[in-house]
Amino acid sequence: MSLDARYRAALDTAGAHGQAHVLGAWERLDDDARRTLLEDVERVDFALCASLIGEYVRERPRIVIPDRIEAPPVLNPKSLAMSAEWTRAWEAGESAIREGRVAAFTVAGGQGTRLGYDGPKGGYRVSPVREAPLFQVFAEGLRGVQRRFGRLPRWYIMTSPGNHDATQALFEQSGWYGLPREAVRFFTQGQMPAFLPDGQIAMSERHRIALSPDGHGGSLRALRDSGALEEMRNDGVEQISYFQVDNPLVHIIDPLFIGLHLVRQSEMSSKAVTKASDTERVGNFCLADGRLCVIEYSDLPEALALRKNPDGSRTFDAGSIAIHVIDRAFVERVTAPGAAARLPWHRADKRVAVVDPMEAAGVPRLADVVKLEMFVFDAIPLARNAMVMYTPREEEFSPVKNAEGADSPATSRRDQVRRAARWLREAGVRVPSREDGEPDAIIEISPAFALDAADLRSRPLPGAIERGSRVVLE
Ligand code: UTP
Repeated sequence: MSLDARYRAALDTAGAHGQAHVLGAWERLDDDARRTLLEDVERVDFALCASLIGEYVRERPRIVIPDRIEAPPVLNPKSLAMSAEWTRAWEAGESAIREGRVAAFTVAGGQGTRLGYDGPKGGYRVSPVREAPLFQVFAEGLRGVQRRFGRLPRWYIMTSPGNHDATQALFEQSGWYGLPREAVRFFTQGQMPAFLPDGQIAMSERHRIALSPDGHGGSLRALRDSGALEEMRNDGVEQISYFQVDNPLVHIIDPLFIGLHLVRQSEMSSKAVTKASDTERVGNFCLADGRLCVIEYSDLPEALALRKNPDGSRTFDAGSIAIHVIDRAFVERVTAPGAAARLPWHRADKRVAVVDPMEAAGVPRLADVVKLEMFVFDAIPLARNAMVMYTPREEEFSPVKNAEGADSPATSRRDQVRRAARWLREAGVRVPSREDGEPDAIIEISPAFALDAADLRSRPLPGAIERGSRVVLE
């Protein structure tokens, strides 16, 4: 189609929804800028925007807290150890992995603004000795799975339009982090425009809509739209092992977790950690009117966050760490055209630079805008038999979110070393300690070498780690 025909079609659609201003600078743009603008405009679902503006932008969405909120049952795998269910779960999980019924899925479409790193977060060098990037750590995890279970799971990676090319370039430059190229699939998530408070779509430049990724909840729709679900179905993939790009401690494919998901016939399962404090900034697992869900820390009434059980323990103690096993068939169901149940949107208020495309000068100014995102945990209440289980924080959760302080590269490196030292000690290796109790060596265990403490025990190990040394087991 010619540029002019595309322009007229775009203007018709945008105009029909009261958003013709997005093309307001057309006459003042050169052809390159016009093409870029049309690509942005053609990415916008104007009908969807129109349906959301009233409820989420012009009005502040009312946070509806269900009448009945209770603490959910949270499985503790330790208390199941050696039970009949535990044995069955191990068998079911291991068979699913061996038979290729499990795929790994990383959501990596976020903007990573808090870390302030220039480039896709998966390229961030996170490991304590080799400074391996996050993507490499996960790729080595997949190789560990292949070593242990004889099958390399396929790895799906969701990017966003803003980081897709850069992410793919990282894989190409690194030789696919040692994986066969055909084991990795990329696809791109959807975007949503930011809105001015009156509901007008915001422009970041005269020829650019202020678009940002539609949240990790957009991953479900993107799995369908990209054809990934169909490919999984054709290849016999039944379970999707979902994790975020920022947590190097994650057990990317966990046989026990997958097995419990299977034996409990859950459609979407989650891992939780014991919260570090009553008001820790993590989502809270709750039973709302009898259904498992996650309520954000900012939405959980304080009285509930502070509530204690008769024995003094915290009532709402299970914090969400965004690790899930999700049935492929469940994603098909909730993303089917016309599906009754949909993920809700969440509003975030931001202050960003915008331009008025109708103004000839197009000088940027700071403005309040509303961004809308979907969260993947909102799928949990839609799932049958949704299950949540505890995992120790020190074993599996130390994300890189901020440049400094909590959840930063420094805390993540510290936690990687602590875990490596603990695994080695459990395997009978002597690891020296400093006076403050921290390991007196910088130790890194590649997930290709060992996936967990039990796996490590079957590997060739030194008798002791030298004080002050830097050690890599790979
Ligand atoms: P975060 O909530 O930490 O957001 O994402 P972020 O965009 O990465 O970082 P900030 O808030 O700008 O600092 C959690 C996980 O969800 C993915 C991220 O890549 C990360 O793995 N994510 C987030 C997406 O894939 N798409 C999104 O639209 C948002």
